[in-house]
Amino acid sequence: MMVDISTDYMGLKLRSPLVASSCGLTSNLKNLRSFEESGVGAVILKSVYEEEIIHYTKVSITRMLSSGFIYPEAMDYFEFEFNQIKDPLSDYLNLIRNAKAELTIPVIASINCLNAEGWLDYAQKIEQAGADALELNLFILPSDFTRTGQDNEAMYFDVVAKILSKITIPVSLKIGYYSAALGMLIQRLSETGVKGITLFNRMYDPDFSVDTLEFTTTNVLSHPSDFATSLRWIAIMSERVKCDLAASTGIHSGQTMVKQLLAGAKVVSAASAFYVHGIPYAQEMLSDLKRWMEEQSYPNLDAFRGKMSKDRTYNPAAFERVQFMRYFKDR
Ligand SMILES: Cc1cc2nc3c(=O)[nH]c(=O)nc-3n(C[C@H](O)[C@H](O)[C@H](O)COP(=O)(O)O)c2cc1C
Repeated sequence: MMVDISTDYMGLKLRSPLVASSCGLTSNLKNLRSFEESGVGAVILKSVYEEEIIHYTKVSITRMLSSGFIYPEAMDYFEFEFNQIKDPLSDYLNLIRNAKAELTIPVIASINCLNAEGWLDYAQKIEQAGADALELNLFILPSDFTRTGQDNEAMYFDVVAKILSKITIPVSLKIGYYSAALGMLIQRLSETGVKGITLFNRMYDPDFSVDTLEFTTTNVLSHPSDFATSLRWIAIMSERVKCDLAASTGIHSGQTMVKQLLAGAKVVSAASAFYVHGIPYAQEMLSDLKRWMEEQSYPNLDAFRGKMSKDRTYNPAAFERVQFMRYFKDR
């Protein structure tokens, strides 16, 4: 039996539901070619960061200067840098142009942002460079004691309203899971006009040594067991949103990809698995997906997608359960 693993995602045609997530591996053309050869449906380029855009945009520096926000001496420093250092923003646009010229799969650009200031014009340049879509990596750590939950959530809607008024390519949001009303937040974001929401980004967690008190980085790569939070929320949300959902974090195997699709994800995006096993591992993940579909006699993804979503499964309560209750009682 021939199975069809192609899918729509954000209005784009993807030949497979496995997407290369934004990370260091998606920052050069050689790797992007390798991802295409290995069967992924789309690539999401390494993010350009809001801080970088603001830092390297002369206009905003001049604006900061005129508002008294920056010391004139600092301007000399920036001028020096502009003359000495290659402009990473132009490099990024070149990467998009080159990737578009060489690849046949969709190329999704990515901006990491907190506010809707300083980078919107650059997003237009990304669109002009030919990116098929833009993913915004929006992560608000709710640690500011002067901001309420509502204030924090308003930041998401502000960013979305501004970006959607600036560009016409599909926009997706990659968010974290910190919200007191996460279901409602995801639902309302899906109604703004964004074409996709990625659940969830994996955050950088600080750690430090007890001997030296030096800060270190923990768990840069995810573990195969880290998929469960995303699985729960894909299952809860997939029948309740007005845009596509992508599953992210902990997708290290074809089997986990199948789970996320059963929960209702349109696509899955993976990064750590390719750091651990290499980019060609995508072929193995996709072969496992196809083998499972053949065994189960599913001719295409729509034949089983969402079958285990909270709204369609035989046991919706499983996704609402958070307490272990009796699990460890007799152990
Ligand atoms: C080394 C590394 C660099 C990353 N850089 C970015 C980035 O620039 N922008 C972004 O949106 N996500 C970035 N991510 C997050 C991944 O895209 C992904 O959302 C996260 O790692 C969870 O997926 P995984 O479990 O498959 O790794 C990075 C992840 C890793 C491991």
